[in-house]
Amino acid sequence: MKQKNGFSGQIGFVFAAAGSAVGVGNLWRFPYLAAKDGGGLFLIIYLVLVLTVGFTLLTTDIAIGRKTGKSAIYAYEAMRKKWKFLGVLTFLVPILIMTYYAVIGGWILKYITIYLLGSGEQAVDSNCFSNFISAPSSVWYSIAFMLLTSFIVYNGVEKGIERVSKFIMPVLLLMVVGIAVFSLTLKTTLEDGTVRTGLQGLAVYLTPDLSGITLERFLQIALDAMSQLFFSLSVSMGIMITYGSYVKKDVDLNKSVSQIELMDTGVAFLAGVMIIPAVFVFSGLEGMSAGPGLMFVSLPKVFFCMGFAGRMIGILFFTLAAFAALTSCISVLESITANCMELFHSERKKTTGILSVVYLIVTAVIALGYSVFYVEVKLPNGSTGQLLDIMDYISNSFLMPFIALLSSIFIGWVMKPAWIAEEMELNGGKFRRKKLYNVMIRYIMPVVMTILFLQSTGLLSQ
Ligand code: PFF
Repeated sequence: MKQKNGFSGQIGFVFAAAGSAVGVGNLWRFPYLAAKDGGGLFLIIYLVLVLTVGFTLLTTDIAIGRKTGKSAIYAYEAMRKKWKFLGVLTFLVPILIMTYYAVIGGWILKYITIYLLGSGEQAVDSNCFSNFISAPSSVWYSIAFMLLTSFIVYNGVEKGIERVSKFIMPVLLLMVVGIAVFSLTLKTTLEDGTVRTGLQGLAVYLTPDLSGITLERFLQIALDAMSQLFFSLSVSMGIMITYGSYVKKDVDLNKSVSQIELMDTGVAFLAGVMIIPAVFVFSGLEGMSAGPGLMFVSLPKVFFCMGFAGRMIGILFFTLAAFAALTSCISVLESITANCMELFHSERKKTTGILSVVYLIVTAVIALGYSVFYVEVKLPNGSTGQLLDIMDYISNSFLMPFIALLSSIFIGWVMKPAWIAEEMELNGGKFRRKKLYNVMIRYIMPVVMTILFLQSTGLLSQ
């Protein structure tokens, strides 16, 4: 097989991988969970999980990628022929995620244009978002986002993905810090004379709320944190295997894993500092929602209360969200492209070209799932959803924990952790959290992933 091109070095790799990890999940789910799940208590639990579960999964994926030099399907086949099925299963996740990620990217583009063209008053109407997605014309925004993603992947790993990530990630970090600081300076006086400040909002975010804590609630918070972590780090979906396969052998993977963890968690934490005090000051935290509701309905109301500054913040916030979504979307398409190039022995440009046409059509269909192709389905976890939610459920709630479970068993008991350690110590360094890794991958991950899987399929709570 032809030598693949890859990242130029550690920085390029870390920015690209962190670009994949930092996405809408950091912006619209993490702050919501923190507000709902006891503020500082959630933060502490999440941090512990990042350093244990997150570290284990990220290390596993990246080391598998670099050691085999292949994407998911052939990586698992190279390790053990019989386990190729796990590679195929892993490959299914980006295939499904790609059907809807550009749709969300399109929504963000729409909101950038709202703030560029007007004061943002239009977005204050609670029906603005639902009216927009249920109009077939919304499809054009998603198509534009898909085209942008395709163009970058078409240009290759170093000239496309790395170059874009190296520009986007530092800018994104600056924007998050800037808006977070601004958020802390906010202040409002309510009708009854009470003053609400951003710093009070920060205290709500950081203080562990232990009132009414029971074992059941504690476990619920831990499960919330776990499923967030999973999605957030882009693990168990083959993306980090593909990115790992592009890393040169002299790059220190220990450092890279820590830096990716730090960036992803740092942005999620700062997204909370950006959003929670602002929502607290202008509307109280009671009505804070997750997902599209937070980003496209609650926040525009908050921005509007800020007057002219709100319009600027609106532009900045949605631009940063678009950046975050773009680097994630790129990683999903890249992972599919890489697998297909290996499967069909085809060139990058041709492969990206064909995949782009296919996904432009699929993106359009999913975007039209709120209008022309409207369906309403009850999912096994009790929620109802449209086409986009179905794809999201199968990939994130069902396949990802299942894959993590199987890959932990495979690495822990079939290949053995030393196989991973060897790759982590390749350039003379020490595999710093080796003991922790061994215990996690063999004993803790299989148990924890089984619980997560049962919970998301709805079997645990019945
Ligand atoms: N990690 C991204 C986030 O937190 O939003 C989401 C994501 C990116 C999920 C890429 C899946 C994926 F393939």
